[in-house]
Amino acid sequence: MSSATTSSKHMAPIRACTVSRDVQNFDLLIEDMEMELGESWGDLTFPSALKYLDQNEARSLEFIAIALDDDDEANLSMVETVILRANTLNIRVLLIAEELGPTALHRLLRLGASDFVPYPLPEGALHDAIKRLRQPTIDVANISPQSRLQPMANQTMGSVYAVQPLAGGSGATTFAVNLAWEIANSGKTAPTVCLLDFDLQTGSIATYLDLARTEKVYELLSNTAVMDRDFFMNTLQTFNDKLKVLTAAADMLPLDLITPDDIERVLTMARANFDVVIVDMPGTVVQWTETVLNEADSYFTTMELDMRSAQNALRLIRALKAEDLPLSKLRYVLNRAPKFTDLSGKARAKRMAESLDIEFELMLPDGTTQVTHANDHGLPLAEISPKNPLLKEIRKLAASIAASNRDESRAAA
Ligand SMILES: Nc1ncnc2c1ncn2[C@@H]1O[C@H](COP(=O)(O)OP(=O)(O)O)[C@@H](O)[C@H]1O
Ligand SMILES: [Mg+2]
Repeated sequence: MSSATTSSKHMAPIRACTVSRDVQNFDLLIEDMEMELGESWGDLTFPSALKYLDQNEARSLEFIAIALDDDDEANLSMVETVILRANTLNIRVLLIAEELGPTALHRLLRLGASDFVPYPLPEGALHDAIKRLRQPTIDVANISPQSRLQPMANQTMGSVYAVQPLAGGSGATTFAVNLAWEIANSGKTAPTVCLLDFDLQTGSIATYLDLARTEKVYELLSNTAVMDRDFFMNTLQTFNDKLKVLTAAADMLPLDLITPDDIERVLTMARANFDVVIVDMPGTVVQWTETVLNEADSYFTTMELDMRSAQNALRLIRALKAEDLPLSKLRYVLNRAPKFTDLSGKARAKRMAESLDIEFELMLPDGTTQVTHANDHGLPLAEISPKNPLLKEIRKLAASIAASNRDESRAAA
């Protein structure tokens, strides 16, 4: 036996691991593992299992043997997380259970454990269980969610455009919603569009498009490891036949409930199924901001012509530079930009850009109270104020995104 976390020192690749509170409580398991696998197995605790499974060495694992007794019953959520993670990696899970209640056992088996052996281990029981694990299965239910997630070889992945407000109320969500709607309506060959509300706590896309906040979103975000295409598509809502939307959850979610892996899986799923994915981000930098930034083709940040926006922009740019993140993806959007005739306003905008060493790639005009009116009525601007000046600017960007999407799909064909 070796501690799996230090396995790199060993010559034999680790083919299996036990996972338990303390493997010394299961000495018969230690003996049997040694008999079956010699030196090529390790032991892990639940927290270390989660870390280990995310490392490259874990790719050589054939199975993990999770050993539990009745003391573990109070704390099954960690066990469940380990099982789900192993499933996504196509690693089989064997349960070794000592006096574990049937409800708990049933729950863990349903979650994706392949087999179970009681403890103390009957003679030859581990050997037989391993033999069963090794038998090839062609049961489709056993295809790992990870492999279901992978797009087909010839499938192109959709583009991602994210929007983050640099100061609250600077128009990020209005921009995201109307951009998504305009792209989805850019003519007969319009790309398919999916709008994701990742502003987990104060997400207002549901309000701006008058969609229900359903419990399904929480279900999805807390179970991304087992998400397949149907689960994802069924969680989306449709706005006016043309736009698919993942709203924020009904309840405020703690921002750290969602991990970078969750976000990565949802984005991958969205990109595999839509031509264009628009993401509305929270105003704060979170653990998974980097994940979205890395996936995004462009990352729009909205700001206004005030000190608050300028200082937040400076902080964001510094933070991204310090982490070596792709700053070049940032597209700076000045909302409620000064009018053509407002010379002093234009001079201030120019000074702001110079002092931040950035360029405003988009200048969005004030769209008057029509904008809030449309949002409050749950409609995109095009549906209620088709001549709005803000809409005209967003439409230009939408047209260029739709056009580049058409070029890309032609190039891929
Ligand atoms: N260009 C604009 N012209 C007029 N009102 C706007 C404009 N952009 C945003 N608003 C209004 O400002 C408020 C905040 O916008 P919102 O898009 O929710 O901001 P954020 O997502 O950055 O917090 C909303 O009431 C919206 O209707
Ligand atoms: Mg918002």
